[in-house]
Amino acid sequence: MTTDENKIAQQNLYLGLESSCDETAAAIVAVGSGESPRIISSVIYDQSDLHENFGGVVPEIAARAHAERMDICVARALKEASLDLSAVTGIGVTAGPGLIGGVLSGVMCAKGLSLGSGKPLIGVNHLAAHALTPRLTDSVAFPYLMLLISGGHCQFLLVKGPQNFQRLGGTIDDAPGEAFDKTARLLGLDQPGGPAVEKAALNGDENQYKFPRPLLDRGGCDLSFSGLKTALLRARDLILKLQGGLYEADRSDFCASFQAAICDVLGEKSRRALSLYMALDPEEPVYAVAGGVAANQTIRGRLKEIAQAAGATFIAPPLSLCTDNAAMIAYAASELHQEGVCHDLTLSGRPRWPLDNSQPALLGGGKKGAKA
Ligand code: KG4
Ligand code: ZN
Repeated sequence: MTTDENKIAQQNLYLGLESSCDETAAAIVAVGSGESPRIISSVIYDQSDLHENFGGVVPEIAARAHAERMDICVARALKEASLDLSAVTGIGVTAGPGLIGGVLSGVMCAKGLSLGSGKPLIGVNHLAAHALTPRLTDSVAFPYLMLLISGGHCQFLLVKGPQNFQRLGGTIDDAPGEAFDKTARLLGLDQPGGPAVEKAALNGDENQYKFPRPLLDRGGCDLSFSGLKTALLRARDLILKLQGGLYEADRSDFCASFQAAICDVLGEKSRRALSLYMALDPEEPVYAVAGGVAANQTIRGRLKEIAQAAGATFIAPPLSLCTDNAAMIAYAASELHQEGVCHDLTLSGRPRWPLDNSQPALLGGGKKGAKA
């Protein structure tokens, strides 16, 4: 045995399955024996090509593709890890929240694997898995502050334990990724909109348009992004009326002004969330982000500045672990299993599954399903 193989043999191995949206994913993560968690394999079949012509994820197409590919994905994750199912300690699967057809495809596949192998089945909350990612990547200690910003999610969470989350606030309408995607659509830029808007914004003047900074006048950490796109639509239509079209420079100015508004809103709400978090007097304060929007360098830079000013370390996991993946599901399963969580074949999928039941449900469906 090589040293690496030896280390793996002493650790617990978890298989994770993810199918809540448009990524079919399976991964193996090793945990325990005093080592940092390690991703042994991580396979993702992205479905974007299947949905490309529909302007968004089509739940029925997504569910069918998950059902067709999940077993193949699991087989590949095991093969890449040079393991078979008998070596695995437990099987984690996203049991919600998300598009229910896809969630059920994953849950059914995991149940079959569990039944066939006799390995424990662990249903994982997809949002909890995102929120626990800084522990997988950086072994961050509880409690830490997390901002989930993606095309489907937007919430501030105090992460106190694998099953202990306090939501400090969240979007009352769109997620920021949706706002980026809609902005790109309005300006005739490519999808997904985030990277296209970020690129165009590089050459723009962020002071050209004064877009609203919703909910800054109200206390608390809730956010709203739907008014921004309406403001952008009006401003764009005015330019179209005046000029009959958009120049490259107009697009850049729109993108820069839009991004500045998003940054201001996320920045101010982060400041508020950080002050609530710092009041807990955490030993090693950490402000972490996850989700596709966390790839945005301008947003990342602003959040880092704000974290540091508050005395917290800023952590942004690599993008491959910020966006949907199964390594986070395998890792979350390991933490839950450690806490005694184990499901039987009555495990079912949940379209909505809030992390903090003491808070009212977040509104809005999200382009990729419920925001929970
Ligand atoms: O986390 P993710 O891959 O999927 C979910 O929505 O769950 O996030 C995708 C979202 C898309 O809306 C995309 O436009 C946005 O993340 N995004 C970005 C950037 N890269 C991806 N938004 C802003 N700036 C980026 N560089
Ligand atoms: Zn996600």
